[in-house]
Amino acid sequence: MSTMPSILPKPRSAARAADFVAFVADKATEQVLKNYVLEQAMPHTYIAVGTIDDAIAHLAKLDRSPQFLLVDLQGCVMPLSDLGRLAEVCEPSVQVVTLGERNDVGLFRSLLKIGVRDYLVKPLTVELIKRTVNVTDGVVNQVMLARAGKTIAFAGTRGGVGVTTVALNVARHLAEETHRRIAYVDLNLYSGAANCMLGAQSNNGLFDVLQNVHRIDPQYVERTLVPHGTRLFMLSAELDYGAPHPYEPGALARLLALLCDSFHYVILDVAAPAEALGNEAFDHASRVYLVADRSVHSTREAVRLLRFVEDRDNNPITSLLVNNVSPASAGKVELADFTAAVGRSVLHEIPYEAKAVTVAENLGEPPRERAPNGFNQTVRRIASDLTGQRPAEAPKRAPRFRLLRKR
Ligand SMILES: Nc1ncnc2c1ncn2[C@@H]1O[C@H](COP(=O)(O)OP(=O)(O)OP(=O)(O)O)[C@@H](O)[C@H]1O
Ligand SMILES: [Mg+2]
Repeated sequence: MSTMPSILPKPRSAARAADFVAFVADKATEQVLKNYVLEQAMPHTYIAVGTIDDAIAHLAKLDRSPQFLLVDLQGCVMPLSDLGRLAEVCEPSVQVVTLGERNDVGLFRSLLKIGVRDYLVKPLTVELIKRTVNVTDGVVNQVMLARAGKTIAFAGTRGGVGVTTVALNVARHLAEETHRRIAYVDLNLYSGAANCMLGAQSNNGLFDVLQNVHRIDPQYVERTLVPHGTRLFMLSAELDYGAPHPYEPGALARLLALLCDSFHYVILDVAAPAEALGNEAFDHASRVYLVADRSVHSTREAVRLLRFVEDRDNNPITSLLVNNVSPASAGKVELADFTAAVGRSVLHEIPYEAKAVTVAENLGEPPRERAPNGFNQTVRRIASDLTGQRPAEAPKRAPRFRLLRKR
C-alpha cells in the first residue's frame, strides 16, 4: 500500500526551458549553430549573439537550466572567474562547452578543471559541434569531472535551539535571493517544523524514498519533492508516533548523490545528531553548522558534537552558530566564556528576534524583520559564507526621509 497521501504533488514534467542554449560573440558562429540545431532537429534551443554576462542574465531568469550550454570566451578578460559566476546560475548537471579564438592548452586544462566539458577553437563548423555534442545520448563526448551540488547539514546542541528556523531561512534566502536550486531535507521523520514554517504539509516523500532506495532514480526523486516557489524543494516525512523508522544504512547517501546532481545545495536539517540518519548526514556533508544557545549544557554538547562530526573521513568544514531563542537575561553563558570553553570562535551570533520570527513561523512566511544586524541580516551572512558572495547590507534608514515626513 502506498504511504503517500493524496497531497502528493502531481508528477511535473521535467521540462527544461531549453535543451541547448548558446551565447556567441559573432554572427557567423551564431549562423553555424543555427544550422546545427536545424540539422539535429532540436526543438528547444536559444542561440544569441552575446557575452557571458548576457548568458548569466538569461539563465538567471530560467527555472531550469538547459542540458547543453555553449558560451564564447572571445574578448573575455577573465574567463575562469566569468565561468565561475556563470556556474552559480546553472544547475550542476549542465554540460558546458566553451568556444575561443586561441589554441591555448593552459586555458583548456584550467577550463576542464572547473568542470567545462570541452573547449573548441574557432572557426566553428557544424561538423565540429556535432563531434562534440552528442544529442542522441544527451552528453558532451569529452568525459570530464562532473560538477555536483553541496550538502550542508545543520544540527543543534539540544532541542529547540533554532536549527530549523535558521536552516530553513538560509535555504529560502539561497533560493529566492541568490537563485540557487535548493533541496531541503528534514530528517525528523516524525514531522519536523520545516513544513509548518513554509505553511505546508508533508507528503511523506522522504519516508517513501528511503524505503524504495534501491529503485529510486532522478525522476522518482523529482516527483517526490514538494516545490515551494520555483527553486526551493522540500523532502520530508510525518510518520505516526510509534511507527517504525525506515532507516536502512546507505539509503541517505544514495539519495544525496541524486539530489546533488540537480541542486546547488542540499540542506539537511539534522533533527537527531545521535541517530543513524544523523550520523550518515554528517558523513556526507561538506559543511556542518552547529547551532547552540548560550547555556552550559550547549557549551558542553558543542565540544562533544564538534569532535563527533570532525572525527570522520569526509572532513566536513564545521562552523558554530550561537542563536538567541530567548531574550537576553542575566545567567546566560557569556559569548567569550562560550568560545573559551569550546575552544573555537563563533561564526555568527544570531540575535533574539522578539516578534518577526514567531509571526513568520505561524504564518508560514519569511520573517519581515529589517534591523541592520537582526535575524535576517545574519541569515544573509550565513548564505554568503556558502556562496562566497558578499551579503548586500540591509538598506539603511534615511533619517532625512523621516524628518521630511514629520513636517
Ligand atoms: N533568533 C530567534 N529569535 C527568536 N525566536 C527564535 C529565534 N530562533 C528560533 N526561534 C524560535 O525558537 C523556536 C524553536 O525553533 P526551531 O523549531 O527552529 O528549533 P529546532 O532546534 O529546530 O527545534 P527541534 O529540536 O524541535 O527540531 C521556534 O519557535 C522559533 O520561532
Ligand atoms: Mg527542528
